[in-house]
Order: sequence, then structure tokens, then C-alpha cells
Amino acid sequence: MTEDKTTGIAHGLTNYGDRDFSLYLRRSFAQSMGFSREMLKKPVVGIAHTPSGFNNCHRHFPELLDAVKRGVLASGALPLEFPTISLGEVFLHPTSLKYRNLMSMDTEEMIRAQPMDAVVLLGGCDKTVPAQLMGAVSANRPAIQLVAGPMMTGRHRGERLGACTDCRRFWARYRAGEIDAEEISKVEGNLSVTAGTCAVMGTASTMACIAEALGMTVPGTAAIPAVHADRLRAAEATGAAAVRLIGSQLTPDRIVTEKSVANALRVLLALGGSTNAIIHLTAIAGRAGIKVSLQQLNELSDTTPVLVNLKPVGNGYMEDFYAAGAMGAVLRELAPLLHLDCMTVTGETLRQRLEADKDAFVDRTIIAARDKPLEAAGGLVALFGNLAPKGAILKRSAADAKLFENEGRAVVFSSLADLAARVDDPALEVEPNDILVLQNAGPHSADAMPEAGYLPIPKKLAARGVKDMIRISDARMSGTAFGTIVLHVTPDAASGGPLGLVRTGDRIRLSVKHKKIELLVDEAELACRRASAPSTRPPAPARGYGRLYAEQILGADEGCDFSVLRG
Ligand code: FES
Repeated sequence: MTEDKTTGIAHGLTNYGDRDFSLYLRRSFAQSMGFSREMLKKPVVGIAHTPSGFNNCHRHFPELLDAVKRGVLASGALPLEFPTISLGEVFLHPTSLKYRNLMSMDTEEMIRAQPMDAVVLLGGCDKTVPAQLMGAVSANRPAIQLVAGPMMTGRHRGERLGACTDCRRFWARYRAGEIDAEEISKVEGNLSVTAGTCAVMGTASTMACIAEALGMTVPGTAAIPAVHADRLRAAEATGAAAVRLIGSQLTPDRIVTEKSVANALRVLLALGGSTNAIIHLTAIAGRAGIKVSLQQLNELSDTTPVLVNLKPVGNGYMEDFYAAGAMGAVLRELAPLLHLDCMTVTGETLRQRLEADKDAFVDRTIIAARDKPLEAAGGLVALFGNLAPKGAILKRSAADAKLFENEGRAVVFSSLADLAARVDDPALEVEPNDILVLQNAGPHSADAMPEAGYLPIPKKLAARGVKDMIRISDARMSGTAFGTIVLHVTPDAASGGPLGLVRTGDRIRLSVKHKKIELLVDEAELACRRASAPSTRPPAPARGYGRLYAEQILGADEGCDFSVLRG
């Protein structure tokens, strides 16, 4: 490689008005880090590195980074890591989703501004993988995702525990008075016991599988446990694959296409994956100018079986999924439904990838055959109606089918603060067949669409043994949660959606069969309420990221991206 080619550290020079001076200065400063001139002539693989004291899921990233670097160096390029924002799911207020777009901007701009020929994206916790993929698609430089991998399970009284489906299960038992403070404290210490992302098919695991389904990872790497030696080997292989991408023209726009996005939707449905993944996949695809519609989701859902028996839908954990055959097995089962000519970051098509491991072992207790599925139709369904003109989502695979065709009386909470203040009030008038409604928790609200859609069963009903109720909101739900929960009602209440017009005592009808969610109040009354309803949209902050968020945030139907960032 000559110094005249704009690759390696010569790429994208700092502008001092004298190109040769800029290169001389950059080389000089790079040598101050101990690199030889020979090393500085090599192509460069950037590594977006996201460890943080506020991100338990990325605790092992220094070790992963070493393995990626080993793969890059052995393949003849120079690895240079750079930090970006890291989003630790449980450490962010009001919710990590608010900062996903900030991380995507950071990732995009640092890929574009710094001299790298390809980039490895090192992410894992819920919002980090979507943020990195969004940024990488927008920057459109050769990119490859390496995920953190899931945690191993813990143990409590002989039972396996995994974040975070079991977090919620034990918390519900504690609220119902079935276990005491001492036991919940012991459970707390055994839910998250290793580095890595949540141990079930939550948002992080779903997004890891989606990244692989899109073709953005080395095949077979989505589910390797964080602490398994295979994860380090995957990191080394990812580094090597990144070097092969250099000069290949295999940029993210050739990998994230309409067909690969449709494949990813199929995979999401077959996994019974997280509802959050709809928002993230919509945003990633949107960066490539591809529209994901909820009508398309329903069409695919009707013809995609649920195949994966993992919590929160089934019984297993991600470590079981890895041992059972992981994404290779799922993709082979789905093959007749997939676009197999899609390209992956390795330069192979999906068809070539699947042919390479067609005889691999599959544990059918965890990954079902297509002709013997766990459920015949996909795990997620979109609902439409006068309550959600632009759609809402129900994870039917994690819900109680007895509640699917139902009409009930609304019990309305006007905000998260109102919910917290009243849900456990013994005076709250609520019965098991009522429908709980939470307003003003969508993307345009002050709370920025938190994972609060898993409304707690009112304490007095939980004590009577009620385990599930229909709950409706414009919020999201953790991918690890379960219940008959209608989410992402769009438009949200704070942007003037009809959800904000519901009053306690109104009747609501849910029909999963007809994919409908209806508020049974006549249009004249709704018009009257609309005319007198005060806006609940918070005023935009005076400055900073909060202002950008307030001005730019789009609805769930557009992936909650910023309008200025769309492709
Ligand atoms: Fe990071 Fe669950 S807290 S993936």
C-alpha cells in the first residue's frame, strides 16, 4: 500500500490546508502511540468499543477487544479501537431508548470522521446493537457486528434463574405475598451472575439474532454465551472477517436490504422475540430507506411458526439455545420462507451459509421443526382500530389466549406517576376482567417511551391470585416480560392520539383474531373530548440533546428515529 492511497490512516485527513503536512502530522502523532511506520502503512479496522462502569452487560469487553485485535492483526491490518457512548439498560433515566439515537449519531459520525477502512461494532446491551447498526448503515462503510453474548443462568433453591424473565416472575410473587423480603433479596443476588446480556430471548438476544439474520455478523455468533471460549474465537473471527471486508464494496447498504429485512422479521416472529425489536428493526431499515410496515408484519406473522422454546415465551435460556443449534438451526427451518440470495458480511449468501452446516445437531426440545412448531403463527401481531390508527403490538406468544377475544371496562391511568400513585391503592375500583390503560408513556411523552407497558396487576387483585389482565399503553415492554399486553399504541397520547381520550368506564374491545383494538365510544363524544383535551406533550427543553429529541422524535411506526437521521 502506498502512502498516496486514501486508505488506512491516510483516509479523511484533518484539514490544515496542506494535505502533505496533514499526513505528516497524523503519522507523527500516531507514532507517539508506539506504532512503527510499517504498521501505519496497513489498512485500518476501527473497533467501536463500548465498555462502561454503567454497563454490566459489557463487563468482558476488554477481553473481547483483545481477541478482535488478534484477528485483525493476523489478517494484516491495524486494529484501532475508539470509544462511543455505551447504554446500560438499567442505569439510564428516564429510559435507554431516549439515548439510542444519540449513540447511533456518535457511532455514525465517528466511523465517518476517523480514518478506518472497515469497522467492528462491539455491542450487546439492549439499545447498543440497534444504535450501532443504525449508525453503521448511515455511515455505510464496511461494518461487522460482534455482540456481547448472553449471561449464564444463576441458581436459587435448585431452580435456574435468568435475567430478566425470572426477575419479574419472582417480583410478582413477592407483590402477591407468596415470598418474603429475605427470599427476594436472595433471588436478587442470583439473577445476573456473569458478564453478558440478559439470559432469555429478551431484546438484547433478539437483536443479536436479528443482526445475524440480516447478515451483519459472522454466522453462528449471536447466541454464544459471553463467558464461553467460543465467544473469544468468534471475536477473533470477526476481526479477520472485517479485514476481508476492506475493499470488497460489501457496505451495509448491500447487506441491509428489503429482502434481508424481511428475513429478519421472519426470524423475529419465529423466535417469539422482543416487541422492542420491531421498533429497532424499523429504525435500522429506515436508515437504508426501507419501510417496515405493521401490515407487512401481520402478513409474515400469519405464515411464520414460532420455533424457539425460550423464556419468556417458553422454558429455556440462551445457553440452551446455543447448545441446541442456535441461529443456524432456526434459519435452516425457516429456509423455504427466506430470501436465500441475501448477502452476508462474510461475502457468502445466506444459501451458501446454510449449506455449509446443513447436517449440524439440533436439540428439538429447544428449536422445533417447522412442521411441528410451538405455535403455528408468529409470536407478534399488530392491532389496528380507532384506538390505534397507526397500529399497536401484542406479543401473542407471551400472552394468555383466554383474553384474546374480549371486551372490558377501561381503568385509566393518565401517566406513570398516576399509575404509581394509585395502582396499589386498596380503594382503586378494579376487577379482574377490567382493562388497564396507561396514557402518556409514548415517545412524545416526558418519559420517552419507557418499558412500563408491563403494568403491575393491582395488588388487591394479585393477592386474589389474578396473574394476567389486558393492559394497553403507548409504552414499550421489556423483551423479557410476558402477559396480555398491548404496546406501542400509535399515535401516542402525548402527540394527540386517541389513547389520550379514553376515560375510566369506557368499553374497549380486543380481537386478536381480527387484529383489532377498538374504543367503543361514539365519534361525536370523542370529538367533544378531543376539543376540550389539554395537550399533554411536554414543552421542549431550552437546549441540548433534550431539545433535539423533542423536535425530532418520530412515532413507533417509524422506529422512534429522529426525522433528520432517516435514510
Ligand atoms: Fe443489558 Fe438486559 S440489562 S441486556
